[in-house]
Amino acid sequence: HEEFTKVKNIAKIELGRYEIDTWYFSPFPPEYNDCFKMYFCEFCLNFMKRKEQLQRHMRKCDLKHPPGDEIYRSGTLSMFEVDGKKNKVYAQNLCYLAKLFLDHKTLYYDVDLFLFYVLCECDDRGCHMVGYFSKEKHSEESYNLACILTLPPYQRKGYGKFLIAFSYELSKKEGKVGTPERPLSDLGLLSYRGYWTRVLLDILKKHKGNISIKELSDMTAIKVDDILSTLQSLELIQYRKGQHVICADPKVLDRHLKAAGRGGLEVDVAKLIWIPYK
Ligand code: COA
Ligand code: NA
Repeated sequence: HEEFTKVKNIAKIELGRYEIDTWYFSPFPPEYNDCFKMYFCEFCLNFMKRKEQLQRHMRKCDLKHPPGDEIYRSGTLSMFEVDGKKNKVYAQNLCYLAKLFLDHKTLYYDVDLFLFYVLCECDDRGCHMVGYFSKEKHSEESYNLACILTLPPYQRKGYGKFLIAFSYELSKKEGKVGTPERPLSDLGLLSYRGYWTRVLLDILKKHKGNISIKELSDMTAIKVDDILSTLQSLELIQYRKGQHVICADPKVLDRHLKAAGRGGLEVDVAKLIWIPYK
């Protein structure tokens, strides 16, 4: 069946100062099917077949950052919120680009229903996208993140954990718990496991006396199921007399925290200027 035989079409892309090898198929319009390399404008994300087209485009394009509102700035790091309905072409371009690095996600081309949080490193030439996550405007299943991507040249530097942390900060501002949409990729799950472990164990370490899973959930906006699965996988939970009991031996916590890797870049909540989408 056609769906299962789709092979990678575009091998490379140029984006800003990077040439990037792609990972997966992405359903670009048919006229791009014979393209080995595609050229993206790093600001508006329009894509082209030839370098000369991009060069001509760059002389005209006056965007220097993603469209939408800058909702966070700390040092050279900025986050922009892009409404898929107000900036449809940008959002669709972003989805095409992201699919090159996402395997099994069905991408929602109905971008109207999503907000896109685009993380940038800014310098005097403009704000350069390093990654993003998308989020449904209204989620019945309490999803606070649909797709997440760190562009390959920027991976393993802590941006993934920053994006995840950011998604939970938005949930806290909404007064809701959140969870990422499933399925997660292997790298996605690794990143989430690392984030959940660090956040939960940091609290358990500092906390004196008993604490319940529900209290942990209220403090972190992490969904109860995700807290349970994290603590269970670390064997920090016992089931006694019909109740979950957290065992928090400081030495054991330290060992797990060490194994969970680096903390990543911190989200400075004081620098997040945002009101929930209504
Ligand atoms: N090999 C082993 N572990 C890896 C890894 C790799 N290539 N990439 C990430 N990890 C793990 C590590 O535990 C890492 O923490 P550490 O560096 O402290 O050890 C942790 O994940 C997160 O690293 P971080 O640097 O914060 O994440 P990132 O910026 O590399 O982004 C993803 C993580 C998942 C967003 C990124 O890999 C990505 O965009 N993948 C493609 C798209 C995708 O799969 N998205 C998830 C779909 S649900
Ligand atoms: Na996925």
